[in-house]
Amino acid sequence: MTAPILRRLTDLRALTTQWHNNGEKIGVVPTMGALHQGHLSLVEAAKAGSDRVIVTIFVNPKQFNNPEDLAKYPRTENEDAQKLVPYGVDAIYVPDPEEIYPQGFATTVSVAGLTNVMEGEFRPGHFDGVATVVAKLFLQTQADRAYFGEKDYQQLMVVRRMALDLDIPVEVIGCPTVREPSGLAMSSRNLRLSPEGLDIAANKHRIMRDLAKELADGAQFDTLAARAETELLAAGFTQVEYIQLRCADTLEPLTHASRPARLFAAAWADGVRLIDNIPV
Ligand code: PAF
Repeated sequence: MTAPILRRLTDLRALTTQWHNNGEKIGVVPTMGALHQGHLSLVEAAKAGSDRVIVTIFVNPKQFNNPEDLAKYPRTENEDAQKLVPYGVDAIYVPDPEEIYPQGFATTVSVAGLTNVMEGEFRPGHFDGVATVVAKLFLQTQADRAYFGEKDYQQLMVVRRMALDLDIPVEVIGCPTVREPSGLAMSSRNLRLSPEGLDIAANKHRIMRDLAKELADGAQFDTLAARAETELLAAGFTQVEYIQLRCADTLEPLTHASRPARLFAAAWADGVRLIDNIPV
C-alpha cells in the first residue's frame, strides 16, 4: 500500500504533532520528485535513523532560474509513491503550491558567501529559492533530521548553514552520491538524456576521477583543469561551465589539495546541464 499523500499543512501537522507527543523522532527527505535510487538511498538512511519518515515532493519554482528547465522538470507523483512502497515511509507530503507560497508571500531566505560561487554564480537566485523552500519544509514537517545527497554538495552546505543560522532544530545529514554502473551520478535530469547523451555523460566521472587522483598525488590544479575541460569537450560535452577545486569544509578555492578538498564540475551534454563532485 502506498503511504498517505498529504497536501495540506494542517493534515501534516496533525500527524507530526502526534508523533512528537509520542516521543518519536522525525526524519525528512526533501525532494522534487522523479525519484531515483539516489533519493531512495536517502529514504533508507532516514528509515535507519528516525522513528518516522516523511518524503516531501515539491517542484519549487523559486529555485529555477530558467523557465524552460522548470517546465521540463519531470513530474511523476504516482510512480514516486509506488517506488516508496517497499520502504514503508509514514507520509508523502506533496504540498499544494499555496501551502508553500501563499498569496502575498514576501520572504526570501538568503545565505551569503557560500552561494556566490559555482551553482550560485551560474544559476542566479537558485540558492535563495532552495534556502527559502527548505526552511519552510523544515518548519512545516518539524523534522528532527533531514537527509540530503552529496551529489548537490554546495546545496548541502547552504542548507546546513541556513538551519544553523536560523536555529531550526534539525540535524542536516549528508549521504554519499549514488552512481549508475557507468559512474554517472544519479539525477532526475538524467531522464532527459538520450542513449547517446547518457554515453557522453558517463565520461564526466572518469575524467573527474583521473583528475582527482593526480591532485591527491600533489599536482597543481590550474593546468590540470584546462586539460580536463578539453577532455570533456572531446568526449561530447557541448559546454563546460566550471571545474573547480575547493575546500570540503568552507568551499574556499584551492590551488592544490592541501586539505580535504572536493572537485566540482558543471557541464552540458545533450541539452542537459549536469553537475557532479567528488572528494579529493
Ligand atoms: O535537491 C532537491 O531536490 C531540491 O533542491 C530540494 C532540496 C528538494 C529543494 O527544493
